[in-house]
Amino acid sequence: MDLTPLPETAFIDPRGGNHLQASRLAHEVMNMVLEHLSTAEQRPPLPDLMTRLDFGDLPEEPRSEMEWLDELTKLLEASMNARTPRFIAHMNSLSNMASMLADLAAAAVDNNMLSLEMAPAFSRLERHLMQKMAVLFGLGDSAGGVLVGGGSLANLQALAVARNVKLNTLENGVSSLPNQPIIFASEVAHTSLQKAAMLLGLGTSAVWQVAANENSQMDINDLQKQIALAKDHEKIPFCVIATAGTTVTGNIDPLPDIHEIAQQNELWLHVDAAYGGALIFSKNQKHRLRGMGYADSITFNPHKWLYVARNCSMALFRDGSVLKQAFRIPVPYMSVSSDFTNIGEISVHGTNHADVLKLWLSLLYIGRTGYAHLVNECYRLADYFLQHIRKRPDLELASEPEMNLICFRAAPKSMLAQKWDEWNAEIQHHLLSQHQIFLALIPYRGAKWLRAVILNPFTEKDLIDRIFSAIDGFQKGRGAHVSE
Ligand SMILES: Cc1ncc(COP(=O)(O)O)c(C=O)c1O
Repeated sequence: MDLTPLPETAFIDPRGGNHLQASRLAHEVMNMVLEHLSTAEQRPPLPDLMTRLDFGDLPEEPRSEMEWLDELTKLLEASMNARTPRFIAHMNSLSNMASMLADLAAAAVDNNMLSLEMAPAFSRLERHLMQKMAVLFGLGDSAGGVLVGGGSLANLQALAVARNVKLNTLENGVSSLPNQPIIFASEVAHTSLQKAAMLLGLGTSAVWQVAANENSQMDINDLQKQIALAKDHEKIPFCVIATAGTTVTGNIDPLPDIHEIAQQNELWLHVDAAYGGALIFSKNQKHRLRGMGYADSITFNPHKWLYVARNCSMALFRDGSVLKQAFRIPVPYMSVSSDFTNIGEISVHGTNHADVLKLWLSLLYIGRTGYAHLVNECYRLADYFLQHIRKRPDLELASEPEMNLICFRAAPKSMLAQKWDEWNAEIQHHLLSQHQIFLALIPYRGAKWLRAVILNPFTEKDLIDRIFSAIDGFQKGRGAHVSE
């Protein structure tokens, strides 16, 4: 082709014609990105959300390299800065170096997970790794799974398989069923379940909310009641979802009890361990996931606590063959292999990026012991954070933490309880504006709570001390009587 109107590095010449120029540009961008990441501590955790960048019209002509680099710099500067430990608000880990570089390599070779012929090594690697991960979670040797673009999609895929297996809906859908199929999940489970129910033609009303106890764990008596009620109404209960690591408070549903009830009622058991699945790597903490091996399917997001660059999420199945039997749609324009089903035929995705490379290279680089150490360190610092809360009678917890998510609020006795929401919003604003520390403010069970997620590997006790002295200073300065 005639490429003269294009920049000389628009594509890397497979004959090596622009290797030097491509290498210079790649180094320049890489250095700029590394400089940006290595100075993250000097920037606020959140850029001003009101700033509007002027992006202008779709470019008519190619811009100069300088302009292009300036645009990239501007966008990096305006991005969320979860690299500083002062960003302590969300389940938003910082991507580890191996996963960043692996993602660059995956984009460079640009294989397509749709089929074996378009991603030969990565397809086989994904199948292998999903089996190994499933075995790690206790699902057994016949397990399998797929990598998808996030926990919401993993939940969607798992529920689609559950619906097709339990209700035989692969061909005729739900319209042939005599009544509405029902899914049970705790009232604090992730909202992606409603989204999945809506996409699966069940309607959001198909997700029946089971009460959670004061520690945000599913109340199994209420689960039993709700199942009985659904049967009384001639609904069709087919699935129960347990959460291992609730989104707001990081609590874990009683997995063995839920399994027993699922068995008694012939329900599919899905465990949404999008966040908490990482505990499986820690000998000290994995007991908290006891019962997870009973699941029919599991969601786990390595892009959360395994520090893998977004997106990286898996849907695992105790019986890996269900993907072929209860989900597969052939892709007739791709060649088939006798020993391998194209991933694009058994996944919610068709064409897809090779997320497996960043997961695999992260595991090779950090190892299971490295991940165990990271999880244990998060617990050590979460415990230190908790000690600060427990020392202060005017602070209270939303639930008893089981992970590194701590949801709490100031509840000064000297103040009317109706004022607490506003008071905590002011504390959050004070921490961000005066100390550049970003804690989340989350509406939860009718009130507003501050939340810390202790995930950043560069978090030190000193930062935690600073958070509490800033909260003390604010409360004393504003006249609340605060006892420590
Ligand atoms: C328990 C749980 N499940 C599912 C999800 C959805 O995951 P994603 O945002 O990757 O779609 C989340 C997100 O925080 C979550 O906490």
